[in-house]
Amino acid sequence: MKLGPLNHVGVAVPSLAEALTHWREVMGASQIHDPIALPEQGVTVCFVDTPNSQVELLEPLGENSPILKFLERNPEGGQHHLAFEVPDIDEARAYYEGLGKRILGPTRVGAHGTPVFFLHPKDMGGILTEIMETPRH
Ligand code: CO
Repeated sequence: MKLGPLNHVGVAVPSLAEALTHWREVMGASQIHDPIALPEQGVTVCFVDTPNSQVELLEPLGENSPILKFLERNPEGGQHHLAFEVPDIDEARAYYEGLGKRILGPTRVGAHGTPVFFLHPKDMGGILTEIMETPRH
Protein backbone atom coordinates (compact mmCIF):
# COMPACT_ATOMS: atom_id res chain seq x y z
CA MET A 1 0.00 0.00 0.00
CA LYS A 2 1.32 3.40 -1.00
CA LEU A 3 -0.19 6.66 0.26
CA GLY A 4 -2.00 8.35 -2.63
CA PRO A 5 -3.01 11.96 -3.28
CA LEU A 6 -5.23 13.76 -0.80
CA ASN A 7 -8.30 14.23 -2.98
CA HIS A 8 -10.41 16.33 -0.63
CA VAL A 9 -11.21 17.31 2.93
CA GLY A 10 -14.82 16.67 3.93
CA VAL A 11 -16.47 19.39 6.01
CA ALA A 12 -19.91 18.92 7.56
CA VAL A 13 -22.08 22.03 7.50
CA PRO A 14 -25.54 22.75 8.89
CA SER A 15 -26.37 24.95 5.88
CA LEU A 16 -24.79 24.68 2.46
CA ALA A 17 -25.99 28.16 1.52
CA GLU A 18 -24.33 29.76 4.55
CA ALA A 19 -21.18 27.70 4.11
CA LEU A 20 -20.87 28.77 0.48
CA THR A 21 -21.12 32.41 1.49
CA HIS A 22 -18.25 31.81 3.94
CA TRP A 23 -16.08 30.04 1.37
CA ARG A 24 -16.77 32.71 -1.25
CA GLU A 25 -16.58 35.85 0.85
CA VAL A 26 -14.19 34.97 3.68
CA MET A 27 -11.96 32.35 2.07
CA GLY A 28 -11.99 33.82 -1.43
CA ALA A 29 -13.13 30.70 -3.26
CA SER A 30 -14.14 31.31 -6.86
CA GLN A 31 -14.47 27.77 -8.23
CA ILE A 32 -17.55 26.28 -6.64
CA HIS A 33 -19.30 23.31 -8.23
CA ASP A 34 -23.03 22.67 -8.37
CA PRO A 35 -24.38 20.79 -5.33
CA ILE A 36 -25.03 17.06 -5.82
CA ALA A 37 -27.75 15.25 -3.84
CA LEU A 38 -26.70 11.75 -2.80
CA PRO A 39 -29.87 10.41 -1.13
CA GLU A 40 -28.46 6.91 -0.55
CA GLN A 41 -25.59 8.47 1.41
CA GLY A 42 -27.86 10.95 3.20
CA VAL A 43 -25.97 14.04 2.10
CA THR A 44 -25.93 16.87 -0.37
CA VAL A 45 -22.35 17.61 -1.32
CA CYS A 46 -20.77 20.66 -2.89
CA PHE A 47 -17.14 20.83 -3.95
CA VAL A 48 -15.06 23.98 -3.55
CA ASP A 49 -11.85 23.94 -5.59
CA THR A 50 -8.58 25.05 -4.07
CA PRO A 51 -5.45 25.36 -6.23
CA ASN A 52 -4.20 21.93 -5.13
CA SER A 53 -7.24 20.09 -3.78
CA GLN A 54 -10.91 20.36 -2.94
CA VAL A 55 -13.09 20.95 0.08
CA GLU A 56 -16.24 18.81 0.09
CA LEU A 57 -19.06 20.51 1.95
CA LEU A 58 -21.61 18.03 3.31
CA GLU A 59 -25.12 19.05 4.26
CA PRO A 60 -27.50 16.49 5.81
CA LEU A 61 -30.14 15.08 3.46
CA GLY A 62 -33.03 13.21 5.05
CA GLU A 63 -33.72 12.12 8.61
CA ASN A 64 -31.20 9.28 8.65
CA SER A 65 -28.27 11.31 7.43
CA PRO A 66 -25.04 9.97 8.91
CA ILE A 67 -23.80 13.51 9.50
CA LEU A 68 -26.72 14.55 11.73
CA LYS A 69 -24.99 13.02 14.75
CA PHE A 70 -21.76 14.82 13.87
CA LEU A 71 -23.65 18.11 13.69
CA GLU A 72 -25.28 17.45 17.06
CA ARG A 73 -21.79 17.29 18.58
CA ASN A 74 -20.47 20.11 16.37
CA PRO A 75 -23.36 22.49 15.74
CA GLU A 76 -21.21 24.91 13.73
CA GLY A 77 -20.06 22.08 11.49
CA GLY A 78 -16.43 21.16 11.06
CA GLN A 79 -13.84 18.88 9.56
CA HIS A 80 -15.45 15.49 8.97
CA HIS A 81 -13.18 13.26 6.89
CA LEU A 82 -10.09 13.07 4.70
CA ALA A 83 -10.26 11.38 1.29
CA PHE A 84 -7.24 9.69 -0.26
CA GLU A 85 -6.98 8.24 -3.74
CA VAL A 86 -5.98 4.70 -4.55
CA PRO A 87 -5.47 3.14 -8.00
CA ASP A 88 -7.63 0.05 -7.26
CA ILE A 89 -10.52 0.18 -4.78
CA ASP A 90 -10.91 -3.61 -4.40
CA GLU A 91 -7.24 -4.06 -3.65
CA ALA A 92 -7.38 -1.24 -1.09
CA ARG A 93 -10.44 -2.70 0.58
CA ALA A 94 -8.79 -6.11 0.86
CA TYR A 95 -5.68 -4.46 2.27
CA TYR A 96 -7.55 -2.63 5.05
CA GLU A 97 -9.69 -5.70 5.78
CA GLY A 98 -6.48 -7.67 6.13
CA LEU A 99 -5.27 -5.16 8.71
CA GLY A 100 -8.51 -5.67 10.66
CA LYS A 101 -9.72 -2.11 10.09
CA ARG A 102 -13.46 -1.58 10.35
CA ILE A 103 -15.01 -0.57 7.02
CA LEU A 104 -18.26 1.36 7.23
CA GLY A 105 -20.69 -0.23 4.80
CA PRO A 106 -20.24 -1.40 1.26
CA THR A 107 -18.10 0.18 -1.43
CA ARG A 108 -20.31 2.78 -3.10
CA VAL A 109 -20.12 5.22 -5.95
CA GLY A 110 -19.03 8.54 -4.49
CA ALA A 111 -19.57 12.12 -5.56
CA HIS A 112 -16.76 11.93 -8.12
CA GLY A 113 -18.42 8.95 -9.81
CA THR A 114 -15.74 6.54 -8.63
CA PRO A 115 -16.06 3.80 -5.98
CA VAL A 116 -15.36 4.80 -2.38
CA PHE A 117 -15.49 3.31 1.12
CA PHE A 118 -14.98 4.71 4.60
CA LEU A 119 -12.77 3.48 7.44
CA HIS A 120 -13.82 3.81 11.09
CA PRO A 121 -12.11 6.77 12.80
CA LYS A 122 -11.40 4.67 15.90
CA ASP A 123 -9.15 2.43 13.80
CA MET A 124 -7.58 5.33 11.92
CA GLY A 125 -6.03 7.64 14.49
CA GLY A 126 -9.31 9.48 15.02
CA ILE A 127 -9.77 10.31 11.35
CA LEU A 128 -12.79 9.14 9.41
CA THR A 129 -10.90 8.12 6.28
CA GLU A 130 -12.43 7.92 2.82
CA ILE A 131 -10.65 5.76 0.30
CA MET A 132 -11.61 6.53 -3.29
CA GLU A 133 -10.50 5.20 -6.61
CA THR A 134 -8.65 7.84 -8.63
CA PRO A 135 -11.03 9.49 -11.12
CA ARG A 136 -9.97 8.68 -14.70
CA HIS A 137 -10.10 11.76 -16.89
CO1 CO B 1 -15.66 12.74 0.73
